[in-house]
Amino acid sequence: MTQNKGFYITTPIYYVNDIPHIGHAYTTIAADILARYMKLKGKKVFFLTGTDEHGQKVEKAAIQRGKTPKEHADSMVENFKSLWKALNISNDAFIRTTDEEHKKVVREILQALHDKGEIEKRKYCGMYCTPCERFWTEKDLIDGKCPDCGREVECIEEENYFFLMSKYQNALIDYIEKNPDYILPETRKNEVLGFLKSKPLGDLCISRPRQRLEWGIPFPFDEDYTTYVWFDALLNYYSALKYLAPEDTKWWPPDHHLIGKDILTTHAVYWSTMLMALELPLPRNIFAHGWWTVEGRKMSKSLGNVVNPWEIIEKYGVDAFRYFLFREVSFGLDGDFSEEALVRRINNDLANDLGNLLNRFLAMNEKYMSGEVITRLSEAKSENPLDIEFVNSFINTINEIDNEILWNQFKLNLVLEKLWHAISLTNNYIAKTEPWKLVKEHKDRVKIILFNVWNALRLTSLFLMPFMPETAQKIWKALGLSGYEMENSTIKWEVTLGEIKTQKIDQLFPRLEIKKEEDKAKMEEAKSDELISIEDFMKIKLKVGKVLSAERIKGSKKLIRLIVDIGEERQIVAGIGEQYAPEELIGKSIVVLSNLKPAKLMGVESQGMLLAATGRDGKLSILTLDREVNAGAGIK
Ligand code: MSP
Repeated sequence: MTQNKGFYITTPIYYVNDIPHIGHAYTTIAADILARYMKLKGKKVFFLTGTDEHGQKVEKAAIQRGKTPKEHADSMVENFKSLWKALNISNDAFIRTTDEEHKKVVREILQALHDKGEIEKRKYCGMYCTPCERFWTEKDLIDGKCPDCGREVECIEEENYFFLMSKYQNALIDYIEKNPDYILPETRKNEVLGFLKSKPLGDLCISRPRQRLEWGIPFPFDEDYTTYVWFDALLNYYSALKYLAPEDTKWWPPDHHLIGKDILTTHAVYWSTMLMALELPLPRNIFAHGWWTVEGRKMSKSLGNVVNPWEIIEKYGVDAFRYFLFREVSFGLDGDFSEEALVRRINNDLANDLGNLLNRFLAMNEKYMSGEVITRLSEAKSENPLDIEFVNSFINTINEIDNEILWNQFKLNLVLEKLWHAISLTNNYIAKTEPWKLVKEHKDRVKIILFNVWNALRLTSLFLMPFMPETAQKIWKALGLSGYEMENSTIKWEVTLGEIKTQKIDQLFPRLEIKKEEDKAKMEEAKSDELISIEDFMKIKLKVGKVLSAERIKGSKKLIRLIVDIGEERQIVAGIGEQYAPEELIGKSIVVLSNLKPAKLMGVESQGMLLAATGRDGKLSILTLDREVNAGAGIK
């Protein structure tokens, strides 16, 4: 009997060593959005995530903590599981590469590939980067260092097992060219093709001598070797189906492997060729998304700017966070995270556009209709052009949103843009029809208008559900729909329901204070409209200053204490700590207002002020010089 093919989506399995941050959350929420959408469409879905637990890094970290690698992994894995819960991730299974069933499958596959002559033992001198757990060839290295992380590599000569990847080079090029949606976005596909066409593909070293790496899966035909962590990890997508997925459905091949751009080669090249060697159909799509920076800078532990999802959820709520990540940037490109941008989105999109629409409707419906709504479309017929126009344009927009191509290509910010267009159509419809003016004399018409708004909100909440499950549920309930499941409801304008009653609820998203800087910047701009004389200007002494040292002021996120050479040494306290790390300021030539009265900021005296402008994104940008100028030079 042929089984129907279910929808199978995966995230990368995360290294247990890391504490999950915004990057991990991003990939996982994206997969969750698609999984939820497909479930909404009535598809059978298997959504897999998990953890990557073997390898030297885990072994080392465990030793440092005085634990066995398994104990270490057992405790670290909880960080992921609890975060996925807090983020409302609807994964159907969680795989760990230390699962006995997974290890068994990896060994079976190694044996099968060995039997088929796809694996060979060879002597090998490789450049190995320990932090990345990767061997590189001489050609790959940049200035003799790891091309991925820039750290030192070691030359290691030993016998190892190789997967004969090179023989699949042409077949892979051919496959990618014939299947334009295999690797997305297109720029990433072109990158992979460029790489594959530029030089001969090597074979892949897939073993590590056991005395060097104990913490891995032993080879079935040579117990002196353990499996290279990537070979083990990639197979999770296959092994999970053997013991974690419902058996009543055909899941292979996966519909989407969702990954970040940094792990594209391992998926597009290693994984694809492994599957070719196993004669398994390739996944339908590998989608590589971009990376998040934080206020313009790379996220890193040393800069102390790693965005902790827990903190954001606690401060702004899970749905605002989920919404922001997918509204702010187009999925695939890099994005920049800032709390200010998040607050702006909450106030404008969530509190104003969406929240106000719901509350306005609920208030009117309660006041004018005692919470009742027409639930049969036939009773909502209207000849009024405003009603007809609204319903038609709303249906058109919903049809555009409910387009699987858009979702399957992860054009998620476009989906949200269109959904917000639908919300603004509804807001405009209320503004144009002015139900409050009609209610006395045309109550029947108001009933129809309010039905139209109710129905628009019903459909809005259905499409919001994949992005903001909690909010969508709240709206659903307020609309009087708690007796109906979202998953089984039609995503169509046409409805026929039993009696329902709407219920007023609290504001979905109370407005938040935008940081005061913005207002201050506006005031400064306004003041600068007044004219000053040249004498006034001459009073200002601007000098070129060279930053000699910089450090954060304890207890302040913003303030940095700088020692600047302006012909003499000056201590300046500047509020630029959210945009700049102290270390990147050192050595910069900046512009200093040198005759400003000293003032104390958090108890530290500032003997002058540096000049900075507010950028389009609301962030400060320091004025620097575009040529070498001596410290202390005057500015006219
Ligand atoms: N264990 C491997 C994956 C094996 S899959 C068979 C791994 N794990 S990871 O924990 O390092 O990274 C997982 C994912 O997090 C990657 O998709 C990566 O792109 C993503 N991110 C890590 N930092 C990120 C950002 N700053 N921004 C967006 N995503 C980033 O690699």
